[in-house]
Amino acid sequence: AATGRGFAHAKAILLGEHAVVYGSPAVALPIPSLRVEATARRIDGASVLDTEISLGPLDASDPLGTTVLETLAHVGAAPAGVEVVVRGTLPIGRGLGSSAAAANAIVDAVADLHGVALDDADRFELVQRGERVAHGTPSGLDARATSSSTPILFTAGRVEHPPIRFGGSFVVADTGARGSTRKAVADVRAFVEVHPERGRALLAELERLTVAGVADLAADRRDDLGTRMNAAQVVLDELGAGHPAITALIAVAAANGALGAKLTGGGQGGCIITLAADPASARRISQALLEAGALGTWTIDAEDYA
Ligand code: PMV
Repeated sequence: AATGRGFAHAKAILLGEHAVVYGSPAVALPIPSLRVEATARRIDGASVLDTEISLGPLDASDPLGTTVLETLAHVGAAPAGVEVVVRGTLPIGRGLGSSAAAANAIVDAVADLHGVALDDADRFELVQRGERVAHGTPSGLDARATSSSTPILFTAGRVEHPPIRFGGSFVVADTGARGSTRKAVADVRAFVEVHPERGRALLAELERLTVAGVADLAADRRDDLGTRMNAAQVVLDELGAGHPAITALIAVAAANGALGAKLTGGGQGGCIITLAADPASARRISQALLEAGALGTWTIDAEDYA
């Protein structure tokens, strides 16, 4: 092809973040409306990566630069002679999976340029190489969720697509506080090391809530799912993933009729996810969160996966 193309989208974790690092299951919801597109074309000279926030020669110490180089090597192409442009509507660095989404789009665009169709395992491994540069030891949940068109249940690298019979809406809101997933994961690990018994009990509780939440999604038990989201937030707070800005927005969501609310992703800032009983309630909650200072809100419902 003269131009290679790849696409991916944002994701929000519904239940199971942090515990997933220890091998427990997590559920992630793709956000198809927040997209990333990568295009790749041949140029003369050194390869170039243009990601909107950075433009320059390929750099192997940069996560997305690594992604381009690893994909070129995988398809048997030279490291020089390709320009990759990444554009999208997905906010960067908000815990919505922007790095993994960009990597998925880049891998597909570069492979497409060379006429190679990747299987899921190869794409995943290439994305994870860049994610390791970015995050250290990523579970792989982001890499999978940002390239899936339907919700995933992710357990120790294995992906399932759980049945969804769900009439409510999720509202994701950005607290505006900057959280580092790397730091949050390290802080949770430190908690578990200092308090092994309590730490293990809390991780087991997160696992129990995730398993129960999957059953709630399949049976459209919205009240129960909301209760489990609230319970997960209490656990994540105790593990050290909370933040005052998260607590504040959760209170606003609850006061405006949310059935449940919790942090989503690494925490210590970043985004929250709330559950609304129906689209009208989701609009009310979204408006209240914006008035309370959320930088942005995004709504997900079952129709996104129809
Ligand atoms: O902050 P995010 O959206 O990249 O999510 C991190 C999820 C964790 O479980 C905290 C870490 C991981 O690698 O899964």
